[in-house]
Amino acid sequence: MKKEFIGEILYQEMMYDGCYRMVIKTDEDLLKASQPGQFVHLKINQTGSPLLRRPFSIHRIDLEQKTISLLYAVVGKGTRIMAMDLPGKKVGIIGPLGTGFPLPDPKPYHVALIGGGLGAAPLLFTAERLVEKEIKTTVILGYADKQRSMLEGDFKRLGVRTYISTEDGSIGNRGYPTEVLQEMILSEKIDAVFTCGPEIMMHKVAVICGDAGVKAWVSLEEKMACGVGACLGCVVRIRDEGGSHYEKACKEGPVFKASEVIFHEN
Ligand SMILES: Cc1cc2nc3c(=O)[nH]c(=O)nc-3n(C[C@H](O)[C@H](O)[C@H](O)COP(=O)(O)OP(=O)(O)OC[C@H]3O[C@@H](n4cnc5c(N)ncnc54)[C@H](O)[C@@H]3O)c2cc1C
Ligand code: FES
Repeated sequence: MKKEFIGEILYQEMMYDGCYRMVIKTDEDLLKASQPGQFVHLKINQTGSPLLRRPFSIHRIDLEQKTISLLYAVVGKGTRIMAMDLPGKKVGIIGPLGTGFPLPDPKPYHVALIGGGLGAAPLLFTAERLVEKEIKTTVILGYADKQRSMLEGDFKRLGVRTYISTEDGSIGNRGYPTEVLQEMILSEKIDAVFTCGPEIMMHKVAVICGDAGVKAWVSLEEKMACGVGACLGCVVRIRDEGGSHYEKACKEGPVFKASEVIFHEN
């Protein structure tokens, strides 16, 4: 059983109405072990409801300030409580959990990160680690509109080439981030693609990369209960030579090779 760490909420930042960045001070052991693409299982209230933990991608790790950041949208009971949490509140954190993105070593190497909506959350931590490794990094972020766009400044501050797409064209390119990826893949060398966001977007990324012969990894947000491989609540179908088998998103994932995932709409 993974150890539970106790964290203390330092502050929250509203990204837009219904979306927040929570910064939590916590144990160095958790921070040092965390890898991009991994997640934590958060106990929002130390007693009472909600009883079940909620999974969140690791959005940022700051070893100097000893903080972990989570980026979340309010969708139900747990996240509604989180949005009202004040500085000083204690939360229980199990993590880091799951398998993250395979950060490459060889240089020169170009990684493209494709984020849709809240799927951008784990990509900031991923970009930070790629930049530390001096790997050329491009991020393409897709949002519904300008009001719900975020993180452009965070990626640019890292020196990462940043593209924004919105469905209504209110900021950046009009359209989907997959259209930017499609054009980019034809005009420049991309060695690997990491993506997180709505399943329909990740499926498109998988198809584009498959056609172009570019390696890609997707981060799946399956519904989870135990978060540690015990309940089989989070299984995904993975292609293999004999057809397919199931793997647990919380243990073998949430990051999988895009070419191996059988997406739900298939
Ligand atoms: C590995 C992983 C990483 C995640 N990272 C993030 C993140 O960085 N930021 C973020 O905002 N959310 C993330 N999620 C989703 C997040 O866990 C859910 O939004 C959260 O648990 C909802 O809790 P709640 O109590 O507010 O909602 P609930 O009351 O539990 O549910 C409210 C609604 O949200 C839906 N829902 C619950 N869990 C999920 C899920 N996993 N995926 C899609 N819909 C769900 C429910 O079906 C329901 O319609 C992640 C999920 C996983 C599995
Ligand atoms: S959430 Fe229980 S096995 Fe994955």
